Amino acid sequence: MNLKNRDFLKLLDYTPEEIEGLIDLAAELKAKKKAGIPHKYCDGKNIALIFEKTSTRTRCSFEVAARDLGMGCTYLDPTGSQIGKKESIADTARVLSGIYDGIEYRGFGQEIVEELAKYASVPVWNGLTNEFHPTQILADFLTIREKFGKLKGINFVYMGDARFNMGNSLMVGCAKMGMNFTAGAPKEFFPNAALIAECEAIARETGATLRFCEDPAEAVKDADVIYTDVWVSMGEPVEVWKERIEALSPYQVNSRLMAKAKPTAIFMHCLPAYHDLKTAVGKEMGERFQRDAMEVTDQVFESEQSVVFQEAENRMHTIKAVMAATLGAI
Ligand code: CP
Ligand code: NVA
Repeated sequence: MNLKNRDFLKLLDYTPEEIEGLIDLAAELKAKKKAGIPHKYCDGKNIALIFEKTSTRTRCSFEVAARDLGMGCTYLDPTGSQIGKKESIADTARVLSGIYDGIEYRGFGQEIVEELAKYASVPVWNGLTNEFHPTQILADFLTIREKFGKLKGINFVYMGDARFNMGNSLMVGCAKMGMNFTAGAPKEFFPNAALIAECEAIARETGATLRFCEDPAEAVKDADVIYTDVWVSMGEPVEVWKERIEALSPYQVNSRLMAKAKPTAIFMHCLPAYHDLKTAVGKEMGERFQRDAMEVTDQVFESEQSVVFQEAENRMHTIKAVMAATLGAI
């Protein structure tokens, strides 16, 4: 597998073999880290991290992965740079390409990260846009492989807002890897028709299946994995909470729903999650709408079936694999 100088903007740009290769590499790097074996494969290089939205996992993963690979890194926060305000994306791309060996970007529209990559002469990595979150999917799939030993044939169910970054990227990932993808959501929360059509064409090649289900109980039947994400994503106005709760409450992942999946099913979430009232937003919205949790109950989140913290750790190992491979170190 030679991914040198490739951008990592969305899984649609990668073949199933390349995706599997990145997951293999992540597993190898994880084993090295656990065994205390140094792997400074990118020694002397430097990367820039641009965050136009907040982050815990993605930022920490890029920073620690960079350090483990021997690289320096600079974090540009949502307010602390000229990007977009005094300097265009195209100019920023060319400036940073002269100083750094790779650039991570988290922001709003996918077209922004695509524009950055177009003008940058070093690899650009998508750290989340409204449309896609590809590094998250690698971590999710590494976790599924650790749990079930395979990806192909896994019954993967995504519950909730399936037309934003997580629903979109998981559908693409499942199609690429020959998995059985189900979205459990009201019709207006299904991914857009063009992306579904693209994934259906991929699925015909890989043996994957795609299903879109408005009945929550029907959606989770025979699931190996039940996955959910927040009902209101970063960058969306607070006013949408009310309509989202009304529309998506039937799709909350709770014990009743988990019981309808296979007994061996696992629960996954990209995090952060509103599973209790211990966050400012969770508390405010919980009290306003008389709920003790949103997309997942605390009981499921804390259950034996939940693999959310293993999944979060795997962000670091998979991001490390993406950087090492695209910087040509492996
Ligand atoms: N899952 C994820 O991307 O988390 P952060 O927003 O904390 O980076
Ligand atoms: N859909 C969420 C994912 C966070 C990792 C958001 O965009 O806020």
